[in-house]
Amino acid sequence: MNISLALPGRSGAATRQAAWLGRLVGAVEEGLERGRAARRALIAEAVAEASRAPELRDLRRFGSQRCYARHLLHADPLERFSILALVWRRGQFSPVHGHHAWCAFALSCGRLLETRYAICEADGLAIPQDTLPLAPFFADFTEAADGHVHRLGNAARQVAVSLHVYGRVWGTAGGGVNRPVVARTGD
Ligand SMILES: [Fe+2]
Repeated sequence: MNISLALPGRSGAATRQAAWLGRLVGAVEEGLERGRAARRALIAEAVAEASRAPELRDLRRFGSQRCYARHLLHADPLERFSILALVWRRGQFSPVHGHHAWCAFALSCGRLLETRYAICEADGLAIPQDTLPLAPFFADFTEAADGHVHRLGNAARQVAVSLHVYGRVWGTAGGGVNRPVVARTGD
């Protein structure tokens, strides 16, 4: 198993971190061998469990002033999936987006808001439906085919860290994991 870690400033916690990340990688690999429903259940449970790793909370100091920070924790050598930790400072929000592939995420610490959107058939614009407050260890899994469109962000004072697994290679030529969607901005 090839566990690649690309976190800044991580030395002492390497062994423990590799253990929890290794379990998550193993669960995703096992999930990929299963049917859709079993894959969903297995990966959602594994990402929720992994989000409890103390090392993820330590990443709060690796935020960025400019934008929420994305740290690649593991890139599958067979290019089937990628695992990232995202660090959200106060006031940092993702763009409105769907996904090019299945996506699982869980909140490790802090609070996030998730706004979910419906797509207007007439003009293809995203229309906000509801906004959910997410607490630590909340976990979700969506299939790309679900057409799930959302926006995550941190409106709270404390830094938040979330753990994401995408069924696609991250950060390479040919596209990212997110599919940008234009949202309606008032009538
Ligand atoms: Fe997303």
